[in-house]
Amino acid sequence: MRVLVSATAAELAATVAARIIDSLQAHAALVLGLPTGRTPLPLYEELARRSAGRAVDWSSARTFNLDEWVGLNGRHASSYRAYMQRCLFEHVNLDAEHIEFLDGAAPDLDEECRRYEQAIAQAGGIDLLLLGLGRNGHIGFNEPAAQLQTRTHRTRLTDETRASNAWLFGGEVDRVPTDALSIGMATIIESRAILVMVSGSRKAQAASEMVNGPLTTAFPASLLQLHPNVTALLDREAARLLQGPAHAL
Ligand code: GLP
Repeated sequence: MRVLVSATAAELAATVAARIIDSLQAHAALVLGLPTGRTPLPLYEELARRSAGRAVDWSSARTFNLDEWVGLNGRHASSYRAYMQRCLFEHVNLDAEHIEFLDGAAPDLDEECRRYEQAIAQAGGIDLLLLGLGRNGHIGFNEPAAQLQTRTHRTRLTDETRASNAWLFGGEVDRVPTDALSIGMATIIESRAILVMVSGSRKAQAASEMVNGPLTTAFPASLLQLHPNVTALLDREAARLLQGPAHAL
C-alpha cells in the first residue's frame, strides 16, 4: 500500500480532488466509487469549487456510492443520497442518469443488492474508488466480523458505527438505522484503483492497523493490503502511529 502524508486535512482534500480531476480529464467516462461520512466533506467542497462554471466536465462520468441506510429513501434528509446531492451532485454537471445509488427503501432488498452489482458490472467496474475508514476498520459498511461478504449485501451496524453517524441524524443515535446496504469486499477489491482518505488523530490507530496490521476480517480495511493499486492518503495526525515508509506530499 502506498502511503502519502499531508500536513492538513485540507491539503489531503486538495490532493485527492486533483487526482480525480486529472482522471476525469484523461478518461471522460470515468466510473467513480464514492464514500460519505465526515472525512470526504472537504474533498467534495474542493471538487465543487474547482468545478464551478463547468470548469470540469463530469457529463460522461458515472458514480456509484458505497452504501445507504436501510429504511430511508433518497429523499430523506439523512440519507446518504441526500448528503451526496448537497455536497457534490448539485455542484457538478453529472448526468442524473449516471448517478447510481442503493435504494435503502426498496421493497426487496436482496433484489436491490443484486441490481446494484449488475449495474456496476454493466458499467465495466469501478475505475477509481474513494474510501473513508471507520475507526473499527470498516470500509463502506463492511463491518468487522468472522466472515465478510463478497458482494453488495444488507448488514447490521455496530453501536460504534451508529454513534459515529449520529451527526447526520441531529445527534440522536436512536434515529440512526440499525441496518445498511453496502457494496461487498470483492466489489471493493475489483476496483482498478483505490484511494483511502484518513484524517484526524482519532483515526491514527485505525490507520496504522490498515497499513501495518495483520490481514484479518476483524479489521476489514487490512484486506486492502492485498490490492495492487491502493494509496492511503493521511493527514499528519492520522499518520502519527504509522511504521515504515510514507511519502510526504
Ligand atoms: C461511515 C460510512 C463510511 C465512512 C466511514 C467513516 O459510517 N459508511 O463509508 O467511510 O463511516 O466515516 P467518517 O469519515 O465520518 O469518520
